[in-house]
Amino acid sequence: MKTPLRALVVEDSEDDVALIVWELSRGGFAVTYRRVETASELVAALETGGWDIIIADYSLPAFSGLAALDLVKSRGCELPFIMLSGIVSEETAVNAMHAGAHDFVAKGKMARLVPAIRRELREAVVRRERHAAAAVLRLLPARILAAQEEERGRIARELHDEIGQALTGAQLLVAAARHSRGSPQAARTLEECAAILERTLGQVRNLSLDLRPPQLDDFGLAEALRWQIERQSRAAGLAFRFDATPLETRLRPDVKIACFRAAQEALNNVARHARATRVEVRLGSRDGALELCIEDDGRGFEPAAAHEQSLRSMSMGLAGMRERVALAGGRVEIRSAPGAGTTLCVVFPHAEDDSVGAARLAGGQNVPQRRFHSAQ
Ligand SMILES: Nc1ncnc2c1ncn2[C@@H]1O[C@H](COP(=O)(O)OP(=O)(O)OP(=O)(O)O)[C@@H](O)[C@H]1O
Ligand SMILES: [Mg+2]
Repeated sequence: MKTPLRALVVEDSEDDVALIVWELSRGGFAVTYRRVETASELVAALETGGWDIIIADYSLPAFSGLAALDLVKSRGCELPFIMLSGIVSEETAVNAMHAGAHDFVAKGKMARLVPAIRRELREAVVRRERHAAAAVLRLLPARILAAQEEERGRIARELHDEIGQALTGAQLLVAAARHSRGSPQAARTLEECAAILERTLGQVRNLSLDLRPPQLDDFGLAEALRWQIERQSRAAGLAFRFDATPLETRLRPDVKIACFRAAQEALNNVARHARATRVEVRLGSRDGALELCIEDDGRGFEPAAAHEQSLRSMSMGLAGMRERVALAGGRVEIRSAPGAGTTLCVVFPHAEDDSVGAARLAGGQNVPQRRFHSAQ
């Protein structure tokens, strides 16, 4: 199948354009193109947008390839720009490359055009991804501060509106019971007070668990994950499964918390976006690296598109996860496509805590502990 290519061609000769299009379609492209030969036509075409590449002749009667390149750059446009020329001098090629053309092809050597375009299209994708990643990183500190403030606001509201109110209620009940000390009414009031205190204790416990699960420090990563997965899956009505290969090593604390928070965010995303019925979490080792994967059978998504969308919407779940995981020396890998579920893995090549002289990760030779739970 041919690769669609929308080319903007700066060229005065219809014959040369026909030759370019013929060469491209012979090289496997399904070309749609527009020919322009003046600055104003080029500006109008750039404003319409939707181009994959610009191919420009070096010299035109009323315009030039270098002027076209200048104009394209001045508009901040980063499309691959290939300069074509009938004049085959080293000086022409050097001028074009110095001015910022991505490649220079002599009209007498048109066989070079297709490989040059394929390479430049690949590099353009890499450039776009690099820019998107840099944009996320630039925004991240502000987003982290905003998220911190939001979290503080949530805790303050919970403390004031829920826990504070409940304790005030209990205080009033104790005062009332004190007045009617010894009466049946006092006993009922104290019962009511005890029920309020029990509910409030539960709220305090949940709040503190959200802030920092003690399991992580007391029982290790696998147990903390098991507990968290169960908690989140039940809340979302998802069937879940957790497999943990026992690890023959002590993990670094920053790796443990990064894994735990990654699982928390991935499970949040499954509950909010995936429309899944089940989720499977695997913790183990691959080639000596620690790996945690969260897989759902939901509607899936296009990771690259979500990346650009998250820039616009200021959502920071996956971006924050990538940052936290990278700070702990790991990486996030997402395999997903619309309709095909999602598998998100975090991988830490050096997860072991050297300070305790720990052995290397087990390498998967242990039999996994298989468990299956259903929230239904
Ligand atoms: N498991 C999943 N299934 C389907 N879509 C997903 C899944 N995980 C993420 N997505 C998509 O990726 C997008 C980005 O996720 P991300 O966690 O960065 O942001 P968010 O969840 O929308 O907002 P935030 O996490 O900041 O509250 C989501 O909006 C969603 O469209
Ligand atoms: Mg999210």
